[in-house]
Amino acid sequence: MPPETLVTGQILSFAASPFGTPTPGDAAEVHEAVLIRDGKIAALGQAAALSAQAPQAQRVDLGDALICAGFVDAHVHYPQTAMIASWGKRLIDWLNAYTFPEEMRFGDPGYARGIADRYFDLTLANGTTTCVSYCTVHPASVTAFFEAAQARRVRAVAGKTCMDRNAPADLCDTAQSAYDQSKALLESWHGVDRLSYAITPRFSPTSTRDQLAALGALWGEHPDCLMQTHLSEQTDEIAWVRSLYPEARDYLDTYEAHGLLGARGLYGHAIHLEPRERDRLREVGAALIHCPTSNTFIGSGLFDMAARMAEGQRVGLATDTGGGSSFSMLRTMAAAYEIGQLTGTALHPAQLLWLATAGSAEALHMGGQIGNIAPGMEADLVALDLASTPAIAQRSARANDIWEALFPTIMMGDDRAVKRVWIAGVPI
Ligand code: GUN
Ligand code: ZN
Repeated sequence: MPPETLVTGQILSFAASPFGTPTPGDAAEVHEAVLIRDGKIAALGQAAALSAQAPQAQRVDLGDALICAGFVDAHVHYPQTAMIASWGKRLIDWLNAYTFPEEMRFGDPGYARGIADRYFDLTLANGTTTCVSYCTVHPASVTAFFEAAQARRVRAVAGKTCMDRNAPADLCDTAQSAYDQSKALLESWHGVDRLSYAITPRFSPTSTRDQLAALGALWGEHPDCLMQTHLSEQTDEIAWVRSLYPEARDYLDTYEAHGLLGARGLYGHAIHLEPRERDRLREVGAALIHCPTSNTFIGSGLFDMAARMAEGQRVGLATDTGGGSSFSMLRTMAAAYEIGQLTGTALHPAQLLWLATAGSAEALHMGGQIGNIAPGMEADLVALDLASTPAIAQRSARANDIWEALFPTIMMGDDRAVKRVWIAGVPI
């Protein structure tokens, strides 16, 4: 790798959140060039000035491609790669019919390695440079995932999925083994290279109180770790939680009562929230992870992005592969736009792109390292061809500004739009 690379194109960075700016597009800036040094962003600005500053830099000209931070997918299940797009069920039946049988195959470490490699090949081709994944109950499924991420030098977060009831026996651990195995994996992987560990109770229905408490204790011992779980995805699920935990004030309380509510908590879906749940999530600064293709595919409901942002929640965006129907964060932005329309707000392209990059990074408390292009940040970048298909090209040709040029790619684009991806400054 040359020590310095000077990339020219339309370099898009965010100076602020487009959810906090009256004109969302004003939150972004477009630069002519970005200088990458030692895997990080060294400078942004005019090509001539940066060229004078770094005369030895290798030049890469991407014409009018849009270059932005690599996509950050804040909630996926890599073990569901091979069963994505499974037909005709809602959440609980979908888990039992498709998900659990597939996850059982991860008892074979060779199978886990093969799927982890396939998962990263698919998502890097889609411009995703950071993901947060559930693994399966098997510790080797976590090792396989981290090894595949490490080999590609990508930033990744993952954890062993813990379940000790309401799942097939082969997918169940216990309160004690969930604690012991999670702790051992955390100690092996957390903070190694670009990897970090997330404590991962699947959701309240598949954990006993003892297991939730054990994982809450582990989080208390390692408060710098993220914790990921599911919350209020479908109404049937919420009724089930109520019957399993009659003492709880609401679904969130099943986590709160066991030490599983905190700022580093990632709560997947979080669609059908009670006022108390919304207040507590905001008070602690926890992250709600919106999974729009999953929410339509499994028929879960409509996440009200505008309302959640207006009340000051921290929100990330995610595919939820394979409850989600795509590996693409472009497709995910399109689905978020459509759900926004159905809940009464047209999300601006700047807001969609921010959610897929800086917003998700902030949900992971990694906003200082990834998710934007700014001096000092890790150079995980994606170059988007804004005319990747004839249909997109004929529409973007009429664009009057960068947002009109980008929006057809958000709505109709896929991996064909991903022209180049850099991981820590190195093109792949
Ligand atoms: N809730 C508990 N487990 C899962 C899962 O694997 N996918 C989705 N979408 N929801 C869940
Ligand atoms: Zn999920």
